[in-house]
Amino acid sequence: MGPYAAAYERSLGDPARFWAEAARDIRWRTPPERVLDDGAAPFYRWFTGGELNTCENALDRHVEQGRADQLALIYDSPVTGTQARFTYRELRDETARFAGVLRGLGVERGDRVILYLPMIPQTVVAMLACARIGAVHSVVFGGFSPRELAVRIDDAQPKVVVSASCGIEGSRVIEYKPLLDEALERATHKVGDCVIVQRPQAHATLVSGRDVDWDHAMADARPTECVPVAATDPLYILYTSGTTGRPKGVVRDNGGHAVALRWSMTNVYGVSAGEVFWAASDVGWVVGHSYIVYAPLLAGCTTVLYEGKPVGTPDAGAFWRVAAEHRVNALFTAPTAIRAIKKEDPEGRLLKPHDLSALRTLFLAGERLDPGTYEWATQILGRPVIDHWWQTETGWPIVANLRGLEPMRIKAGSPSVAVPGYDVRVMLPEGAVAPPGVEGDIAIRLPLPPGTLLTLWRDDERYVESYLSRYPGHYLSGDGGTIDEDGYIRVLGRTDDIINVAGHRLSTGVMEEVLCAHPSVAEAAVVGVRDELKGQVPRGFVVLKSGTDVDEPTLRGELVRAVREQIGPVAAFKEVAVVQALPKTRSGKILRGTMRGIADGDDVAVPSTIEDATVLDHLRPILRPPQRQP
Ligand code: COA
Ligand code: AMP
Repeated sequence: MGPYAAAYERSLGDPARFWAEAARDIRWRTPPERVLDDGAAPFYRWFTGGELNTCENALDRHVEQGRADQLALIYDSPVTGTQARFTYRELRDETARFAGVLRGLGVERGDRVILYLPMIPQTVVAMLACARIGAVHSVVFGGFSPRELAVRIDDAQPKVVVSASCGIEGSRVIEYKPLLDEALERATHKVGDCVIVQRPQAHATLVSGRDVDWDHAMADARPTECVPVAATDPLYILYTSGTTGRPKGVVRDNGGHAVALRWSMTNVYGVSAGEVFWAASDVGWVVGHSYIVYAPLLAGCTTVLYEGKPVGTPDAGAFWRVAAEHRVNALFTAPTAIRAIKKEDPEGRLLKPHDLSALRTLFLAGERLDPGTYEWATQILGRPVIDHWWQTETGWPIVANLRGLEPMRIKAGSPSVAVPGYDVRVMLPEGAVAPPGVEGDIAIRLPLPPGTLLTLWRDDERYVESYLSRYPGHYLSGDGGTIDEDGYIRVLGRTDDIINVAGHRLSTGVMEEVLCAHPSVAEAAVVGVRDELKGQVPRGFVVLKSGTDVDEPTLRGELVRAVREQIGPVAAFKEVAVVQALPKTRSGKILRGTMRGIADGDDVAVPSTIEDATVLDHLRPILRPPQRQP
């Protein structure tokens, strides 16, 4: 039996023992009493009775154990033309000071702090400072609208919000402060204080008595020590798209998270202390939480924080420049970024001038890795390109080719095999396990391993209903797929209304809610259609209220604007068509899957349950080819 098979078997056969061994790589203030606590199943808890501090494990511990002068963080920002480097000692000191700022503002263990910040070092410092004092951070991605931010403020009820005067998108300066002010106005929860990072590119007007300038606050702050917290205490809440207007607040613990992430660096990514890890994502997403901030630091690596795009900052050679300049050993990004590079530099010419000798592996996740992108990346890099599958909910990989534990044969189109700890199964609708090769719902038998979600913030019921009720004893991933005879899993896409636009997870249901709120719209459908660059993009179809007399181009413009304003630019909602009717089943369900299939150019059969097949006939020319609108 190879190392992977042995580890996998042990992880499922005796999970408590397996994870107790992994937990030795973490510093505990009080050792756990129970490794796997099933006392309140299906709410499993890891390392109960244990106490630790995640920030201590990510920073202080390395400072004390000989890494004080090693780089912890490299900030590389082509959009501002700046770079900054922080050793472990410097990052610890900044973090301890900002923890003091938060303390001074009355933030205590268990209090929530919302971070609405761009990709700047202060974001990493703020996250770790929360962890240091046992506060719970919730990072909100900068591409979300004030309305979405307000929803999160009302749900998390933070004492403090940390934000910045602006973010920079390519060459555009996006002022964050007006967006924050609007969100605070909209929210019913009243935030105590806001700490604002003033960036040279935009000056934010501070509200006296509420807003505090980051630099001023830091100048007077007293460093604060790490506070031990329970392993089961929440470290952060990260909101992700659900099927309703209310996002799901995924709750992550301290103990399980630290153990699992630390384990993943060695076993999944094959990266050691002292090496350089770069996740080219955004801290607003789970990839950023886990693999820009926590995992590389827990493992004693140097992490790269990149404020830029794969293309246009300044060109499609940007990733190769960063990887070469900082001697990156492992690079992690989304397939869409590679597609963007490929589109602009198909021959890989911009890669040639760079010395990528340090780079061992390219990891890709966040959306399906299409074989064309996989092959192109493999060919131009001449290194393993590793697809792996996971979600905000799990926080770390479910299916991967474990580069540290035992590198395996790569089968293009499959992220490879189940990671130790995850008992992955494909389920058929009636609840049986699907035979090899047969498509079904990808589920994971409980308990999930450490580091995965504890519940949804203040909503245990929704957690059970969304994830645990479809197949009792199993977590429902929301993705469909297959497992072959060798245990290789293929992920075929979401089975719900979630779409993946440029690696960003969005709900079409929420977009439909926005469209339906327009006074002229009777009903709406939004489907995610295939897109060469972004993987998927949303397309909307609306039916007008009878007797409505509107100018269609004006209406379309209003609808596109409404989605942008209410959800955010990140929704990339640019196409909407007015149609006579939507195709439905006899029971009134909109046939979104059929619409998507036609739009994608697939050979789709008309479902026998359709109410009126002529509706679909009328829709076909509109669905295909896409009618791009300005
Ligand atoms: N703050 C404000 N606005 C933001 C934003 C942020 N943090 N992030 C994105 N936006 C805006 C963009 O400016 C754009 O606005 P526009 O419609 O006015 O042009 C819109 O949201 C869509 O952004 P994006 O999805 O980034 O598309 P793009 O066309 O600007 O760039 C890619 C396309 C492929 C280059 C880009 O999506 C990319 O780098 N993707 C990598 C994905 C990734 O990191 N995913 C995380 C999971 S691993
Ligand atoms: P997020 O929670 O934003 O990380 O998005 C998770 C979703 O992205 C998953 O449920 C999948 O639909 C999709 N996804 C992530 N990684 C992959 C992958 N490697 N292959 C296919 N789909 C993926």
